[in-house]
Amino acid sequence: LLFLGNLIAQAQPSIIAHRGFSFVAPENTVASAQLAWQQNADAVELDIYLSKDNRVVVIHDNNTKRTTGQDYKVAETSADVLRTLDAGLWKGEQFKGEKIPFLEEIIATVPDGKKMVVEIKCGVEVLPALQQVVDRSGKKEQLIFIAFGWEIIAATKQMFPENACYWLSGSAADVQGKLEDAAKIGLDGINLNYKIVDEKTVEQAKALGLEVLSWTVDDPEEARRLVKIGVTGITTNRPDLMKNSL
Ligand code: G3P
Ligand code: CA
Repeated sequence: LLFLGNLIAQAQPSIIAHRGFSFVAPENTVASAQLAWQQNADAVELDIYLSKDNRVVVIHDNNTKRTTGQDYKVAETSADVLRTLDAGLWKGEQFKGEKIPFLEEIIATVPDGKKMVVEIKCGVEVLPALQQVVDRSGKKEQLIFIAFGWEIIAATKQMFPENACYWLSGSAADVQGKLEDAAKIGLDGINLNYKIVDEKTVEQAKALGLEVLSWTVDDPEEARRLVKIGVTGITTNRPDLMKNSL
Protein backbone atom coordinates (compact mmCIF):
# COMPACT_ATOMS: atom_id res chain seq x y z
CA LEU A 1 0.00 0.00 0.00
CA LEU A 2 2.79 2.32 0.91
CA PHE A 3 4.38 1.52 -2.43
CA LEU A 4 1.17 2.29 -4.29
CA GLY A 5 0.81 5.50 -2.30
CA ASN A 6 4.26 6.54 -3.39
CA LEU A 7 3.49 5.79 -7.00
CA ILE A 8 0.42 7.95 -6.89
CA ALA A 9 2.11 10.81 -5.04
CA GLN A 10 5.12 10.99 -7.36
CA ALA A 11 4.62 11.64 -11.02
CA GLN A 12 7.47 10.37 -13.20
CA PRO A 13 10.10 13.11 -13.49
CA SER A 14 11.36 14.22 -16.87
CA ILE A 15 14.79 12.83 -17.65
CA ILE A 16 16.77 15.58 -19.37
CA ALA A 17 19.96 14.46 -21.11
CA HIS A 18 22.64 17.01 -20.23
CA ARG A 19 24.33 18.24 -23.45
CA GLY A 20 22.83 15.11 -25.01
CA PHE A 21 24.11 11.71 -23.90
CA SER A 22 27.37 13.41 -23.00
CA PHE A 23 28.64 10.54 -20.87
CA VAL A 24 29.42 8.61 -24.06
CA ALA A 25 29.24 11.16 -26.88
CA PRO A 26 30.77 14.57 -27.51
CA GLU A 27 28.57 17.09 -25.68
CA ASN A 28 26.30 19.42 -27.63
CA THR A 29 26.55 17.59 -30.96
CA VAL A 30 23.92 16.00 -33.17
CA ALA A 31 25.41 12.56 -32.33
CA SER A 32 25.02 13.29 -28.64
CA ALA A 33 21.36 14.29 -29.09
CA GLN A 34 20.59 11.23 -31.20
CA LEU A 35 22.14 8.88 -28.64
CA ALA A 36 20.04 10.54 -25.92
CA TRP A 37 16.85 9.91 -27.93
CA GLN A 38 17.95 6.28 -28.33
CA GLN A 39 18.04 6.09 -24.53
CA ASN A 40 14.46 7.35 -24.55
CA ALA A 41 15.37 10.58 -22.74
CA ASP A 42 12.36 12.87 -22.31
CA ALA A 43 14.40 15.92 -23.27
CA VAL A 44 17.84 16.97 -24.42
CA GLU A 45 19.54 19.98 -22.87
CA LEU A 46 22.03 22.05 -24.87
CA ASP A 47 23.84 25.39 -24.67
CA ILE A 48 23.83 28.23 -27.19
CA TYR A 49 26.01 31.18 -28.21
CA LEU A 50 25.82 33.67 -31.05
CA SER A 51 28.55 33.63 -33.70
CA LYS A 52 30.10 36.83 -35.07
CA ASP A 53 27.76 36.65 -38.08
CA ASN A 54 24.64 36.14 -35.95
CA ARG A 55 24.16 32.39 -36.25
CA VAL A 56 22.94 30.53 -33.18
CA VAL A 57 25.46 27.77 -32.47
CA VAL A 58 25.41 24.95 -29.94
CA ILE A 59 28.40 24.99 -27.60
CA HIS A 60 28.88 25.21 -23.84
CA ASP A 61 31.98 27.40 -23.54
CA ASN A 62 32.42 30.89 -24.99
CA ASN A 63 35.58 29.51 -26.58
CA THR A 64 36.12 26.46 -28.81
CA LYS A 65 39.38 25.25 -27.25
CA ARG A 66 38.14 22.53 -24.87
CA THR A 67 35.87 20.72 -27.33
CA THR A 68 37.70 21.24 -30.64
CA GLY A 69 41.35 21.78 -29.68
CA GLN A 70 41.37 25.06 -31.64
CA ASP A 71 41.30 28.39 -29.88
CA TYR A 72 38.51 30.67 -31.16
CA LYS A 73 36.20 32.97 -29.26
CA VAL A 74 32.71 32.05 -30.50
CA ALA A 75 31.33 35.61 -30.51
CA GLU A 76 34.30 36.83 -32.56
CA THR A 77 34.26 34.03 -35.12
CA SER A 78 32.02 33.55 -38.14
CA ALA A 79 29.98 30.39 -38.53
CA ASP A 80 31.89 29.16 -41.59
CA VAL A 81 35.11 29.12 -39.54
CA LEU A 82 33.41 27.48 -36.55
CA ARG A 83 32.03 24.83 -38.89
CA THR A 84 35.51 23.79 -40.01
CA LEU A 85 36.29 22.64 -36.45
CA ASP A 86 35.92 19.05 -35.27
CA ALA A 87 33.79 18.90 -32.12
CA GLY A 88 33.71 15.10 -31.97
CA LEU A 89 37.23 13.77 -32.10
CA TRP A 90 38.12 14.64 -28.50
CA LYS A 91 35.57 12.05 -27.37
CA GLY A 92 36.83 9.27 -29.64
CA GLU A 93 37.63 8.36 -33.25
CA GLN A 94 34.06 7.16 -33.84
CA PHE A 95 32.83 10.75 -33.42
CA LYS A 96 35.34 12.31 -35.80
CA GLY A 97 33.70 14.88 -38.07
CA GLU A 98 30.96 16.01 -35.67
CA LYS A 99 30.55 19.73 -36.13
CA ILE A 100 29.54 22.49 -33.77
CA PRO A 101 25.82 22.36 -34.64
CA PHE A 102 23.60 25.21 -35.71
CA LEU A 103 20.67 25.29 -33.30
CA GLU A 104 18.25 24.43 -36.11
CA GLU A 105 20.11 21.19 -36.88
CA ILE A 106 19.84 19.90 -33.37
CA ILE A 107 16.20 21.00 -32.96
CA ALA A 108 15.47 18.98 -36.11
CA THR A 109 16.39 15.77 -34.22
CA VAL A 110 13.64 16.20 -31.58
CA PRO A 111 11.09 13.39 -31.94
CA ASP A 112 7.35 13.93 -31.46
CA GLY A 113 6.44 13.99 -27.81
CA LYS A 114 9.95 14.98 -26.68
CA LYS A 115 11.38 18.35 -25.56
CA MET A 116 14.54 20.32 -26.05
CA VAL A 117 15.89 22.47 -23.23
CA VAL A 118 17.84 25.38 -24.70
CA GLU A 119 20.24 27.09 -22.29
CA ILE A 120 21.10 30.61 -23.36
CA LYS A 121 24.73 31.11 -22.35
CA CYS A 122 25.19 34.50 -24.00
CA GLY A 123 23.25 37.75 -23.56
CA VAL A 124 20.09 39.26 -24.99
CA GLU A 125 21.89 39.96 -28.29
CA VAL A 126 21.01 36.38 -29.28
CA LEU A 127 17.24 36.89 -29.06
CA PRO A 128 16.42 38.18 -32.58
CA ALA A 129 18.38 35.33 -34.20
CA LEU A 130 16.91 32.84 -31.74
CA GLN A 131 13.39 33.97 -32.57
CA GLN A 132 14.02 33.34 -36.27
CA VAL A 133 15.40 29.86 -35.66
CA VAL A 134 12.52 28.97 -33.34
CA ASP A 135 9.85 30.28 -35.70
CA ARG A 136 11.28 28.36 -38.65
CA SER A 137 11.85 25.13 -36.71
CA GLY A 138 8.27 23.88 -36.79
CA LYS A 139 8.91 22.57 -33.26
CA LYS A 140 8.40 25.72 -31.23
CA GLU A 141 6.01 24.07 -28.77
CA GLN A 142 8.65 21.44 -27.94
CA LEU A 143 11.19 24.02 -26.78
CA ILE A 144 11.98 25.06 -23.21
CA PHE A 145 14.37 27.88 -22.32
CA ILE A 146 16.74 28.19 -19.37
CA ALA A 147 19.41 30.71 -18.35
CA PHE A 148 21.44 31.78 -15.34
CA GLY A 149 21.15 35.47 -16.24
CA TRP A 150 18.03 37.07 -14.78
CA GLU A 151 17.79 39.68 -17.50
CA ILE A 152 18.11 37.11 -20.26
CA ILE A 153 15.53 34.67 -18.89
CA ALA A 154 13.09 37.55 -18.24
CA ALA A 155 13.51 38.82 -21.81
CA THR A 156 13.20 35.29 -23.19
CA LYS A 157 9.91 34.73 -21.38
CA GLN A 158 8.62 37.99 -22.86
CA MET A 159 9.63 36.91 -26.33
CA PHE A 160 8.26 33.37 -25.97
CA PRO A 161 5.35 33.66 -23.51
CA GLU A 162 3.96 30.27 -24.58
CA ASN A 163 7.20 28.42 -23.91
CA ALA A 164 8.25 27.18 -20.50
CA CYS A 165 11.17 29.21 -19.11
CA TYR A 166 13.21 28.40 -16.01
CA TRP A 167 15.79 30.47 -14.19
CA LEU A 168 19.00 28.57 -13.37
CA SER A 169 20.83 28.98 -10.09
CA GLY A 170 23.51 27.32 -8.04
CA SER A 171 23.21 29.65 -5.07
CA ALA A 172 20.70 29.10 -2.27
CA ALA A 173 20.94 32.75 -1.17
CA ASP A 174 20.19 34.01 -4.70
CA VAL A 175 17.19 31.69 -4.94
CA GLN A 176 15.69 33.00 -1.69
CA GLY A 177 15.97 36.55 -3.01
CA LYS A 178 14.45 35.78 -6.39
CA LEU A 179 11.62 33.27 -5.87
CA GLU A 180 8.79 35.79 -5.68
CA ASP A 181 10.16 37.76 -8.62
CA ALA A 182 10.35 34.56 -10.68
CA ALA A 183 6.64 34.04 -10.15
CA LYS A 184 5.90 37.72 -10.81
CA ILE A 185 7.56 37.77 -14.22
CA GLY A 186 5.71 34.61 -15.22
CA LEU A 187 8.54 32.10 -15.18
CA ASP A 188 7.44 28.48 -15.08
CA GLY A 189 9.98 27.50 -12.48
CA ILE A 190 13.54 27.36 -11.28
CA ASN A 191 16.27 24.93 -12.27
CA LEU A 192 18.76 24.37 -9.47
CA ASN A 193 22.07 22.74 -8.79
CA TYR A 194 20.91 19.56 -7.02
CA LYS A 195 23.18 20.34 -4.06
CA ILE A 196 21.03 23.28 -3.01
CA VAL A 197 17.66 21.57 -3.48
CA ASP A 198 15.93 20.92 -0.17
CA GLU A 199 12.36 20.29 0.87
CA LYS A 200 11.79 23.84 2.10
CA THR A 201 12.88 25.43 -1.17
CA VAL A 202 10.68 23.09 -3.20
CA GLU A 203 7.71 23.88 -0.97
CA GLN A 204 8.29 27.63 -1.23
CA ALA A 205 8.57 27.40 -4.99
CA LYS A 206 5.46 25.27 -5.34
CA ALA A 207 3.47 27.63 -3.14
CA LEU A 208 4.28 30.35 -5.69
CA GLY A 209 3.25 28.10 -8.58
CA LEU A 210 6.84 27.44 -9.63
CA GLU A 211 8.15 24.07 -10.70
CA VAL A 212 11.62 22.90 -9.59
CA LEU A 213 14.04 21.13 -11.93
CA SER A 214 17.63 20.20 -11.08
CA TRP A 215 21.09 19.56 -12.55
CA THR A 216 23.41 17.66 -12.97
CA VAL A 217 22.52 14.40 -11.26
CA ASP A 218 24.26 11.16 -12.21
CA ASP A 219 23.55 9.19 -9.04
CA PRO A 220 20.14 7.45 -9.14
CA GLU A 221 19.88 7.50 -5.36
CA GLU A 222 20.32 11.26 -5.32
CA ALA A 223 17.75 11.53 -8.10
CA ARG A 224 15.26 9.53 -6.05
CA ARG A 225 15.75 11.93 -3.12
CA LEU A 226 15.03 14.88 -5.38
CA VAL A 227 11.94 13.33 -6.92
CA LYS A 228 10.63 12.41 -3.49
CA ILE A 229 10.71 16.04 -2.39
CA GLY A 230 8.95 17.21 -5.54
CA VAL A 231 11.56 17.91 -8.24
CA THR A 232 9.98 17.27 -11.63
CA GLY A 233 13.01 17.30 -13.94
CA ILE A 234 16.36 15.54 -13.54
CA THR A 235 19.15 16.80 -15.77
CA THR A 236 21.74 14.04 -16.15
CA ASN A 237 24.75 12.89 -18.16
CA ARG A 238 23.42 9.34 -17.63
CA PRO A 239 19.93 9.07 -19.15
CA ASP A 240 20.71 5.35 -19.49
CA LEU A 241 20.91 4.91 -15.69
CA MET A 242 18.09 7.26 -14.81
CA LYS A 243 15.50 5.90 -17.20
CA ASN A 244 15.75 2.52 -15.52
CA SER A 245 15.90 3.52 -11.91
CA LEU A 246 13.31 6.20 -11.17
O1 G3P B 1 20.93 22.31 -17.27
C1 G3P B 1 21.64 23.25 -16.55
C2 G3P B 1 23.11 23.01 -16.53
O2 G3P B 1 23.49 22.60 -17.80
C3 G3P B 1 23.86 24.21 -16.10
O3 G3P B 1 25.25 24.04 -16.05
O4 G3P B 1 27.51 24.42 -16.91
O5 G3P B 1 26.32 22.37 -17.53
O6 G3P B 1 25.63 24.54 -18.51
P1 G3P B 1 26.20 23.84 -17.30
CA1 CA C 1 23.86 23.79 -19.81
